Amino acid sequence: MSLRHVIPDEELVLVQEGLTKAYVPNLEKYRVGRKIEPAHAPVFYNPAMTLCRTFSIIVTEAYRRFFDVDELIVCEPLAGTGIRGLRYLFEVKNVKKVIMNDIDERAFYVMKKNVDLHGIQDMVELHNSDASTLMLELRQRYPVNVIDIDPFGSPIQFLHAALRLIRHGGLLSVTATDVGVLMGRHPQKCIRRYGARPIQSSSFSREVGIRILVGAIARIALEFDYGVKPLIAYYEGHYYRVFLLVGKDRADARETIDNLGYLVYDRESGERALMTSYPVPVSTASLRGELYGPLWVGKLVDLNFMKAVREVYSEYTYAHSQKLTNLIESLYEEAPLSHKIYYTSSETCRRLGREMSASKIVDLLLSLGIDASRTHFDSRGFRTVTSLDHVRRVINLAFSS
Ligand SMILES: C[S@@+](CC[C@H](N)C(=O)[O-])C[C@H]1O[C@@H](n2cnc3c(N)ncnc32)[C@H](O)[C@@H]1O
Repeated sequence: MSLRHVIPDEELVLVQEGLTKAYVPNLEKYRVGRKIEPAHAPVFYNPAMTLCRTFSIIVTEAYRRFFDVDELIVCEPLAGTGIRGLRYLFEVKNVKKVIMNDIDERAFYVMKKNVDLHGIQDMVELHNSDASTLMLELRQRYPVNVIDIDPFGSPIQFLHAALRLIRHGGLLSVTATDVGVLMGRHPQKCIRRYGARPIQSSSFSREVGIRILVGAIARIALEFDYGVKPLIAYYEGHYYRVFLLVGKDRADARETIDNLGYLVYDRESGERALMTSYPVPVSTASLRGELYGPLWVGKLVDLNFMKAVREVYSEYTYAHSQKLTNLIESLYEEAPLSHKIYYTSSETCRRLGREMSASKIVDLLLSLGIDASRTHFDSRGFRTVTSLDHVRRVINLAFSS
């Protein structure tokens, strides 16, 4: 390593996240006005992603217990300072090895410094390589069962290698920060990157975006006759995060195809539906409208897995924050209806000339025996099994009685 890649000690600070201490760049030096700009630091560390890292620890521990996995070998091929990888090692049980990598030599320097800090050289393997090249090489050496892909922007270019490397039954965790693209702000870019038509300026673009992301990962898996199943898919502020179970049997691939399809959206009425139909969109719904996708039409959150997540979270008291509690509870609530795309209270009530909050709409529908839930995607959002027209009639009746 040349001296150019050494970061002087005075430019680093020791932070603690969860149970883990690590050196990271002193972000005070990269403050623009009141805002810290992590991307300006020589090595990337974003304190705003602490919740993402903490939740990943909890989800991975839940994965280990729920699927009864003896030992975990974790690969983090875009590791930055290595703080995420170290947290896997220290905060998830039975982690035998963590393989961390970053293409940037300064990141490699900080990762190494963090490994030396803890004296854990025998449990960590460090690389300074291209993520995809490394993942393809590792296939010969390790039965990796957890891979965390946490890039800047789109994760798509890393997924072929990640899907090749990961073991059958493994946990693939993926971040995408190009939410604007997935939500339809740059439709051509979305078509190029994800091979799908996004929806522009709709009240529910957030969910369509994450369905396009999961759908694109699923289609890469299908290229190899593999399948994926989302355990959790969520949105927070500036990023999407998906936790997928990867299956390498033909049956997994077949099940994956059954969860791909399109969104039909009638802008006039606001009605929308997800239809299972891949690769050719054949609508069986009576609904007419525009087609978006292809995308994932199945559940985004698995209820039984969320039970395991809640159990782990209740034990990991040090990891508690109001924001994470709200996210976990919201995902748990919406899991059973996470194959029904959400409506918002504002679009529902606009034509009625009266207001009702999403929580009140959910309570009203439930009181009539109609399944409904709120959603973490939007505080004005709700999921239900019935049509928008029916919801509007129910609200009208409630106001007139
Ligand atoms: C968002 S940061 C990772 C943050 C880290 N996972 C965390 O939780 O703190 C993305 C990292 O990917 C690295 N990177 C970008 N392209 C890469 C490539 N092709 N192969 C390996 N690393 C790459 C960057 O240098 C950067 O450190």
